[in-house]
Amino acid sequence: MIPVCEPLIEEKELKYVNECLKTGWISSSGKFIDEFEEKWADYCGMKYGIAVSNGTTALQISLGCLDLKHNDEVIIPTFTIISCALAVIYNKARPVLIDSEPQTFTIDTGQIEEKITQNTKVIMPVHIYGHPCNMDPIYKLAKKYNLIIIEDAAEAHGAEYKGKKCGGLGDISCFSFYANKIITTGEGGMLLTDDNDYAKRARSLRNLCFQKDRRFYHEELGHNFRFTNIQAAIGVAQLERIEELVEKKRWIGHTYNEKLKDIGGLILPIEKTWAKNVYWMYSVVLDESTGMDAKGFAKQLHNLGVETRPFFLGMHRQPVLKEMGLVDSEYYPVSDRISEKGLYLPSGLTLTEKDINFVVNAIKNAL
Ligand SMILES: Cc1ncc(COP(=O)(O)O)c(C=O)c1O
Repeated sequence: MIPVCEPLIEEKELKYVNECLKTGWISSSGKFIDEFEEKWADYCGMKYGIAVSNGTTALQISLGCLDLKHNDEVIIPTFTIISCALAVIYNKARPVLIDSEPQTFTIDTGQIEEKITQNTKVIMPVHIYGHPCNMDPIYKLAKKYNLIIIEDAAEAHGAEYKGKKCGGLGDISCFSFYANKIITTGEGGMLLTDDNDYAKRARSLRNLCFQKDRRFYHEELGHNFRFTNIQAAIGVAQLERIEELVEKKRWIGHTYNEKLKDIGGLILPIEKTWAKNVYWMYSVVLDESTGMDAKGFAKQLHNLGVETRPFFLGMHRQPVLKEMGLVDSEYYPVSDRISEKGLYLPSGLTLTEKDINFVVNAIKNAL
């Protein structure tokens, strides 16, 4: 079975983790945390990095920095992971959903303005499967309506919009370093920002809002969303070969593109002229001519030795959000179509050309 993803762990990771274990710096302080925060922020072109326990908590804290109130609204794409909606809900605000643009699956920027109200405070663009969002229309709206941009770059390490790194495009950006991400720390996440006040607030919120001068005296409700030196040690080692990892992802993307382009039946991922797509996960959508949905296709591929993953299911389709009245039930046709027809293929950093040939042959057979 070709797995959908496997992390690439090498000697450096072992060496740095060993150093933590030997020196006893195994908890949430230590040199690797500082180094990882500084270097990741620097790589993305941001001033401050605040490492947290995962990408979901990064999103939660980023909105926590904004002091949202009941009835405040945050614009998110419906086609995303539930972490985005949860971050809004746990910060007392309401997620307002937007459909996807059909080629990149990212938020359809042409549909945002009609959903902006007096209560809108934030736009959360999410770069999907390694392709950046179209940011200029988002910047225009943010300026016109005085909105904050919280960028979810959890799937877009090393991707670029008009030559600028994803993660360096918003007021605050959020990353995940889960094991399937381009850079992993096992579990982990980070917020990046240029704003010193947000950075200070995020550091406090991740660590129970302890006070500097009076530790066990609390003026705010915080969280324990801390990140460990051991996780950071893995991250620092991974970051030392970020260029190689991003290039490998792009090689996987281009190799699939080349081998699948004449097969028919599949809509392949694209790279907009203004984008650097890192093909975090190589995503395909079945076209109507196949008469198949992703579930049936995945089952056939599984029988042929290829593991896949289904696409996200839109937030407007999530029973828990609907039953609690947290999202509207408008029609989101692009999200619905790609959820039904889309899946991603094995895309891990350990993939070889032989593996890709195996996957491509399985696809030919399945189709
Ligand atoms: C777009 C997006 N945002 C947020 C997250 C949440 O990250 P984590 O799994 O580290 O909580 C993910 C996870 O894959 C994601 O894909």
